[in-house]
Amino acid sequence: MTKFQIGIVGSGGAATSGAAQFSKIDAANIRAVASRNDHTGEQLARRHGAKFIPNWRDLVQHGDVDAVAIFTHNDSHAEIAIAALEADKHVFVEYPLARSIDQGQAVIRLAKSKDRVLRVSHSEPVSNMHQAIKRKVQGLGGLLWTGFWRLTPGRGARPEILFNLPVSGPPAHFFIYHVYPVVDLFGPASWVESAAVYEGMNGEGQYNRFVNAVTVGFSSGGVGQWTWAGGVETNRPEQHCRYVLNGATVLNDGNGWHCAASAGVEEIRPIGASSVSIQELWTHEILDGDSETAIADTAIAFEAIRISLAAEQSMQEQKRIVLT
Ligand SMILES: NC(=O)c1ccc[n+]([C@@H]2O[C@H](COP(=O)([O-])OP(=O)(O)OC[C@H]3O[C@@H](n4cnc5c(N)ncnc54)[C@H](OP(=O)(O)O)[C@@H]3O)[C@@H](O)[C@H]2O)c1
Repeated sequence: MTKFQIGIVGSGGAATSGAAQFSKIDAANIRAVASRNDHTGEQLARRHGAKFIPNWRDLVQHGDVDAVAIFTHNDSHAEIAIAALEADKHVFVEYPLARSIDQGQAVIRLAKSKDRVLRVSHSEPVSNMHQAIKRKVQGLGGLLWTGFWRLTPGRGARPEILFNLPVSGPPAHFFIYHVYPVVDLFGPASWVESAAVYEGMNGEGQYNRFVNAVTVGFSSGGVGQWTWAGGVETNRPEQHCRYVLNGATVLNDGNGWHCAASAGVEEIRPIGASSVSIQELWTHEILDGDSETAIADTAIAFEAIRISLAAEQSMQEQKRIVLT
């Protein structure tokens, strides 16, 4: 079988698990790994029998590479995606899609003009649980309010990178994977307001703990609120989510998804027994020549970063940002 050749950029935690997923796919082969980190880059390349290329610009130009999977930090996703698409490669990029609206639009425009498969790593398209929630929500009338909050005592595997405004963006941006599912269910926002408290911030934009709250009005009606708190004094992570709709409330307080109404409470179970990984979906789309499905999902990823980037602007300018 002729395998299509993947080039991986980055060699940290996400690259390691992404490469492990790619290595399970018969039709794909990891041809090269690029990273500015020689040590972990060479290690990851060796593990997959791939060539180590220190500079990602050489990897995206490599004639033997058909598709590029980007696992670097948030500040470089779009730059690498643009270079890879310009070199006619298919692109898989870790969320968030981009650190600016202009970059996000440029990535999408290029994928369309080059007819390449561009997929952001959001897993909802292959999540049986998310698809079950979506089906349930669609039968329950309009949204009144959605609320999400998360408290974490820890600071992540690389706090100097994650709790770092210039590299990772504010929490609303690096926690974009909590925003994406809500946008997938209820559509884009028409306005955004946000505030944040950072403790221990230094001159480089690194901090020790935070609280970030975001409120949005959805174009289709209803209000959404997300609150994240990280590195805080508590004993365990906590996460709560609610979709208050006209017909019922769909919620998860850490004990699975339920649908609650005056008639009673019903558990929501995942649709289907198994699912493919998001990496597998991307490779199937490349092999099937289907760039349309991925671009439709990327449009949702773009609307999600419109919220996180507007939240950042709202914090900087201390006002409501109206999205047109
Ligand atoms: N889909 C998921 O489930 C998931 C889970 C976790 C993270 N993520 C996302 O994946 C991305 C990476 O996260 P991570 O946890 O894997 O971070 P990480 O462990 O710090 O790894 C990032 C890797 O990329 C390299 N790198 C960073 N910027 C680069 C650049 N401009 N040029 C070349 N190499 C660069 C880093 O090199 P150094 O070692 O020199 O810094 C490191 O090898 C983030 O955007 C994050 O949001 C996704």
